[in-house]
Amino acid sequence: MTQPDPLRRMGPSPIDLVRVASNQLNRILPLHRSIDMTTVTTKPAVSTGATTDPLRLIDVDHVRFYVGNAKQAAFFYASCFGFQVDQFSDLTTGQREQASYLLTQGNIRIVLTTGLSKDHPASDEVKLYGDGVKDVAFNVQDAAAAYERAIANGAESAYEPIEHTDDYGTVVRAGIKCYGRAVHSFISRTGGYGLEKVRDGGRFMPTFQSVPFFPLNDYNKANPCGLEYVDHCVGNVELGGMNKWVEWYENVLEFKLFKHFDDNDISTEYSALMSKVMDSGFGVIKMPINEPAEGKKKSQIQEYLEWHNMTPGIQHLALRTNDELASVAELRKRGVNFLRIPDTYYEGVWDRVDEMLEAHGHETVQENRERIKDLGILVDADDEGYLLQLFTMPLQDRPTLFFEIICRRGSQSFGKGNFKALFESLELEQDRRGNL
Ligand code: FE2
Repeated sequence: MTQPDPLRRMGPSPIDLVRVASNQLNRILPLHRSIDMTTVTTKPAVSTGATTDPLRLIDVDHVRFYVGNAKQAAFFYASCFGFQVDQFSDLTTGQREQASYLLTQGNIRIVLTTGLSKDHPASDEVKLYGDGVKDVAFNVQDAAAAYERAIANGAESAYEPIEHTDDYGTVVRAGIKCYGRAVHSFISRTGGYGLEKVRDGGRFMPTFQSVPFFPLNDYNKANPCGLEYVDHCVGNVELGGMNKWVEWYENVLEFKLFKHFDDNDISTEYSALMSKVMDSGFGVIKMPINEPAEGKKKSQIQEYLEWHNMTPGIQHLALRTNDELASVAELRKRGVNFLRIPDTYYEGVWDRVDEMLEAHGHETVQENRERIKDLGILVDADDEGYLLQLFTMPLQDRPTLFFEIICRRGSQSFGKGNFKALFESLELEQDRRGNL
């Protein structure tokens, strides 16, 4: 006579529970046997001979993060920052090398990528740097032509032009090496992969498929965080490296120098940095470049480098909103940790901002001042208007990458007046981590 399973009498067995959990997970990130998979052809790409300026950037195509576990990271960015987990590419969609998730919000596209073997470059990079940004990819008319021009301008190749085609259309990619571990890819899209179609929710690239059931997507639609696009993207480079990389952006990508802050602008009692802002033109993106400057104690740039294997990389992505208060309130509700601003900051900020706005004939700050203080938001003004901004704590365990949430009301600068208050706050956090 068969003995009953003792665990069975007490309810579901651990194996049942694993099975139920596995089924639930598969409902969320389902098995994709029923999803259509078209044949993808991949081959070296050549320029189509477009007549426009090959380095005319159309948009930020996407920002690719290398992470240790893309499936889990997708939940973090969806839950905390309200991204739609829109599409994925993995073993089940014909991608054997890596797993990727496309996260979208407004005109922001973040691709989270994990290597599926120890030999994948993402695996090495996660070991060296932790989770972080690998690639700020630009959409251009002809990726092969942009690449050829950048190489002719002195760029080092990250990877040569490659064309992926399936029944939907074609995506051409090519990459150049930037500072440290960072890469800029050029992406051109035709047919069903055109940028306008992707912006409207169309398929991202060959091997990508829609995520059919992800309950947080509905929640995020009903509770938007209001993030619209990548306003700027800041890199930290080694001591003495800033001017070299300023020239690189001027020569290779044909960017222009936008603003200059020297270490007198950005310093506290203990630490300092130097920063120059490179501008793509056409309103696509600004790429500020920081280097550490000598101070009594370690600067935040130096701290970043030390936890990033002494390798330059992307320090923060600034995500633009048109309603700073609503965005920050929603993000706080979701558990996002922001930098703590000292209470004393609000004692001086309104005089400073009002004086600047009045001197240049601009309207005063329209947002509720008490609410700005309650939400711990930073305010700054210049001759063109004002801005509201706030910085998250690091997005991963290492004190490396973070987000900035920024709203511009005329001002096109970067919160220079906030640097001192901000750095004092940053130093409190560095001190808590034992890194000052
Ligand atoms: Fe910034």
